[in-house]
Amino acid sequence: MQTTAPSFKQLQGTLRQRVPFLYGLLRQGRHRMHWWAKMRYYLHDMKHAVSHMFWDQRVNTYEKLSAELIFQFHKLEKGLCMPGKPRFFGRDPVMATCRLVERWKAQGFAQDDPVFVGAIETLRAYRTRLGDTPPPAADAGPIFEALERALMSVPPQPEFATPRPYRQTDAEVSAMFDQLCQDRRSVRAFDSRVVPLPVLEGAIQAAQLSPSACNRQPCRVHVYRDRERIDALLKLQNGNAGFGHMLTTLLVIAADGNSFFDASERNEPYVDGGLFSMSLILALQARGIATCCLNWCVSPATDLEAHRRGDIPAHHKIIMYLAVGYPLEGALAPKSARRPTDSIVRIH
Ligand SMILES: Cc1cc2nc3c(=O)[nH]c(=O)nc-3n(C[C@H](O)[C@H](O)[C@H](O)COP(=O)(O)O)c2cc1C
Repeated sequence: MQTTAPSFKQLQGTLRQRVPFLYGLLRQGRHRMHWWAKMRYYLHDMKHAVSHMFWDQRVNTYEKLSAELIFQFHKLEKGLCMPGKPRFFGRDPVMATCRLVERWKAQGFAQDDPVFVGAIETLRAYRTRLGDTPPPAADAGPIFEALERALMSVPPQPEFATPRPYRQTDAEVSAMFDQLCQDRRSVRAFDSRVVPLPVLEGAIQAAQLSPSACNRQPCRVHVYRDRERIDALLKLQNGNAGFGHMLTTLLVIAADGNSFFDASERNEPYVDGGLFSMSLILALQARGIATCCLNWCVSPATDLEAHRRGDIPAHHKIIMYLAVGYPLEGALAPKSARRPTDSIVRIH
């Protein structure tokens, strides 16, 4: 007589009926394992935050200093645009910006870097504004002294002057934007043409105009164009089956943890990363290049391995992969029906 081995489900049933106590213990154990597996994901994120998301006067890397400098001078830039009766503002951020400018100079970082020039032009505009809204007497001395020192021997760069008039988009561009959104679809069939680097760089430059928290611009793009590296990275990702082999360009979009001051900002890499990615996708679409986002829902071990294979520094948090290329002639895309708009909007 032929007997078949009992299935896992049957074994479970038998155990539950005959030895309920043991069954309960094992079930609890399984849940604990599951819970522990999940904890590893959170711990991985925590480690990233603790290791990279902080600023410290003793750590003068370009990444941290540039982020902190933007963070501070952006407060002044915003203040200069506020509506209503002008009043004095910005005592703390102007002092902090001036101190950071000094640290920048002391480190010998480039003084034609847009971050530095942006800070200088903001300080210049702020100093002019103090003519109309002078600081309280107790603050005036230290503020003017710090401004003088920071601006000393740095020539004006009018193209970085701030603030500037806001320009509204005209109706023609608006219609084109809607069309661009209609046309963009995730493509999973590419031809063998390689996207020229200048085209890619143009799209990245457009995506750099995306908003980011305090304008710190944490997004970084890793570009891979060799088969071996693309394959090695794609092997770690579970959503490229059937088309990954057609890719001639793979991007890894990351956010630099150094841009953030502490773990309260733990979600900013994803928010800024998402905004940047969308702009990049549309900018590529506008240049005739198709894309497909590739999720980065991976275990800590896989994440570490991707950093290794992609030569991605540990402080760059991977947000997603992006498949990029010219669409295969006649490529199809799912309709991907959208929910009714009124089902996602609640007007309060
Ligand atoms: C964060 C993110 C991760 C995604 N991951 C994958 C993926 O791994 N593989 C894939 O084929 N599509 C992936 N997609 C594409 C979605 O399936 C697609 O955007 C969605 O179905 C809507 O279709 P559309 O992009 O063509 O409008 C991803 C999209 C996003 C935003």
